[in-house]
Amino acid sequence: MSDLASQSPAVLDWAKINAALDAHAASLVATLEIHRQIDSTNRYLLDLARQGARTGSVCLAERQTAGRGRRGRSWVSPCGGNIYLSVLWRFAQGYPAIAGLSLAMGVAVIRALRQQKIDGVALKWPNDIYCAGKKLGGLLIETSGEADGPCAAVVGLGLNVRMPDGDAEDIDQAWTDLGKLTGQTAWDSNRLVAGLLDRILPILADFEERGLNAYLDEWRRYDCLKNRHAALWLGAERLTGIVRGIDDNGLLLLEQPDGQLKAFASGDVSFNGA
Ligand code: BTN
Repeated sequence: MSDLASQSPAVLDWAKINAALDAHAASLVATLEIHRQIDSTNRYLLDLARQGARTGSVCLAERQTAGRGRRGRSWVSPCGGNIYLSVLWRFAQGYPAIAGLSLAMGVAVIRALRQQKIDGVALKWPNDIYCAGKKLGGLLIETSGEADGPCAAVVGLGLNVRMPDGDAEDIDQAWTDLGKLTGQTAWDSNRLVAGLLDRILPILADFEERGLNAYLDEWRRYDCLKNRHAALWLGAERLTGIVRGIDDNGLLLLEQPDGQLKAFASGDVSFNGA
């Protein structure tokens, strides 16, 4: 453990999280591990998944030394109260059954934040959590399994609760945290984690049966890109247009300058065509 991690007081507490979980979510947790420091909670659970770890394994860390973001980026993960949470879930029907899962997970996070009375939270396709035009958190889903057999998904959530100013220098986009948004510095991370798990786990448990369809209306309600001028990056290629929401498969609909509407399964979007 680094000096920094060993000096800072532990925030996350297994007993407090367990006590705050609702009964249904508690029944879906197989194991819940808390690390003072780890490279990446997603990396850890993916490795465990390959060794046969059970569906419902949960991993939390107070600090990550190699936090992973989307598209190979890193996720700035200092200690000090931010949430770094991963959940492993197994899907008997394999990859086709998890199409759109990351969008449904975004809905789970919005539900949890709204339950905490955090207003103005929104979703930026595909799975950023936004508030006041800045990134508050992000989801990264990583998978393992055979192409035609069952698969395991690790749902990773990074949520900025209290980002120390010095560490924020490494973030390359507009960001915010719960402290800045609410003026409240004493967030109870254990309650936040329990509230998140209360909403994430039931959606995971039902997802094979219900699919993205059950969450589309809600996702669209919180879509902060819809009808905005935006740029979509596909690797080095940059397309501009107006975002027209998502289709029923969760693909981004971009109206291009010639008026054509095209659907995209992946890419990075930035506002205002910037
Ligand atoms: C993004 O790029 O927006 C996704 C960020 C996901 C970060 C979380 S923090 C917990 C989990 N462990 C990781 O290494 N990454 C995810």
